Amino acid sequence: MKHIRAVYPGSFDPITNGHIYIAERAAAVFDELEVSVLINPQKQSTFTMDERCEMAKESLAHLANVTVNHFGGLLVDYMKQRKAHVIIRGLRAMSDFEYEFQTALMNRQLSPDIETFFIVTDAQSSYISSNAVRDIYKFGAVVPDMVPPIVERRLIEKFHGAE
Ligand code: PNS
Repeated sequence: MKHIRAVYPGSFDPITNGHIYIAERAAAVFDELEVSVLINPQKQSTFTMDERCEMAKESLAHLANVTVNHFGGLLVDYMKQRKAHVIIRGLRAMSDFEYEFQTALMNRQLSPDIETFFIVTDAQSSYISSNAVRDIYKFGAVVPDMVPPIVERRLIEKFHGAE
């Protein structure tokens, strides 16, 4: 029987409840899901690669068929290395679509056998982004249900020291 390994790539800086929702949905469909923490050259990260992986691992520990890895190069090269053909990306609103559409076509151009699958977010997560979460915690506010407890602790440590 065919065993399908899917890769859910992202910056995960940090992982949010929105990302976790997408990982849960993908893990229910595919045999294996690798959450891959990658470098987005267009963004400067707040958390180190190790910190991002650790938060993702802990936040996804309840999903038996999910692993967390990281890679420093092109997503398509990572896919080849892992012998994976399915990319998972989450879609919140139309504003995500243009970037996601271009990226999916670019990845297909680079590696024609790769398929990108989009999973729509749940209504509660549709407004959550790692950018917004970082801003909120940086300026001392707290909003419930945006990130799991480990991420909340790490955000507070990062911006306000280990209080
Ligand atoms: O969470 P993000 O920042 O939206 O994720 C974007 C990410 C990391 C998946 C994308 O930047 C990526 O694939 N980076 C690896 C480098 C790469 O393959 N770039 C070409 C994409 S066309």
